[in-house]
Amino acid sequence: MAAAKEIGVVGSGQMGSGIAQLAAVNGLDVWLHDTDPGALTRAKKSISESVQRSVSKGQLPQEVGAEALGRIKFTSNLEDFRSADVIIEAVIESEEVKKILFGQLDRIAKGPAILASNTSSISITRLATATSRPHQVIGMHFMNPPPVMKLVEIVRGADTSDDTFNATKSLAERLGKTVICSQDYSGFIVNRILMPMINEAFHTLYTGVATKEDIDTGMKLGTNHPMGPLELADFIGLDVCLSIMKVLHAGLGNSKYAPCPLLVQYVDAGRLGRKRGIGVYNYQKAPKI
Ligand code: 3HC
Repeated sequence: MAAAKEIGVVGSGQMGSGIAQLAAVNGLDVWLHDTDPGALTRAKKSISESVQRSVSKGQLPQEVGAEALGRIKFTSNLEDFRSADVIIEAVIESEEVKKILFGQLDRIAKGPAILASNTSSISITRLATATSRPHQVIGMHFMNPPPVMKLVEIVRGADTSDDTFNATKSLAERLGKTVICSQDYSGFIVNRILMPMINEAFHTLYTGVATKEDIDTGMKLGTNHPMGPLELADFIGLDVCLSIMKVLHAGLGNSKYAPCPLLVQYVDAGRLGRKRGIGVYNYQKAPKI
């Protein structure tokens, strides 16, 4: 399979825009899609600011930064993906939404194109059933923030071919990432281990064992994690954490994966983390008096 030159990214949130930026900086032509024009405008701004920051820190030559920004095209029309070699889906964590999207992409994408999902835990095998090319469907799970984190977790569905796996691995390595390979079971590798830890941090808070600050400091200084589990949950999004716990609970069928009631309550209250200005912590600036 020839090396990818053009990729499509569906969903211009934190993950999609980070993947688009990473691909463009590494020389690929990118289409970034979102149905919401406002989301595309925000993505354009955040990608541009992030690339400018790298340029001003001397990490990226000015002309490379400018070329990268010029390589990203923003669209609300999926038909623009017809010449993409690889399409990476990074929309909300809903199996129903992703299946509908995969069916559309299957009709639009050229025959040899790979359809990849950045899903954090949904079955690649089931997503592939929405297409006529299950051997070309694969999980390409980036970590947040994609431009910074060194890992891509590649998930093989039941029918993913070796050619698709090898081409996806080459693409991830071209983006400067180390690859790990997971079979298609709920949560794959990273979230199967990370999310129960985050859920346990919520139980630790919920049962009054310690304050949120002490839980986070304990894990930061006690185990050298860059962020404590509650701070990380806010960073990832509490809604995302909850939906992954639900997938683990349903897929692995063990009560140890049941979401902590406090996590459920925060999500019910709209306390979704940094993106909403409030989660476990409050990120809103105190009002001026
Ligand atoms: N885009 C590009 N660059 C970014 C960035 C972003 N969104 N966020 C931070 N950076 C860069 C900064 O510019 C800075 O670059 P420099 O070292 O060259 O100056 C560097 O990253 C460090 O950033 P900061 O100094 O602002 O802050 P920190 O040192 O606290 O680092 C962090 C921020 C990299 C996010 C760090 O706190 C961290 O590694 N946290 C843990 C993140 C993590 O665990 N991610 C995985 C979550 S699990 C997941 O994604 C799976 C999903 O399915 C749920």
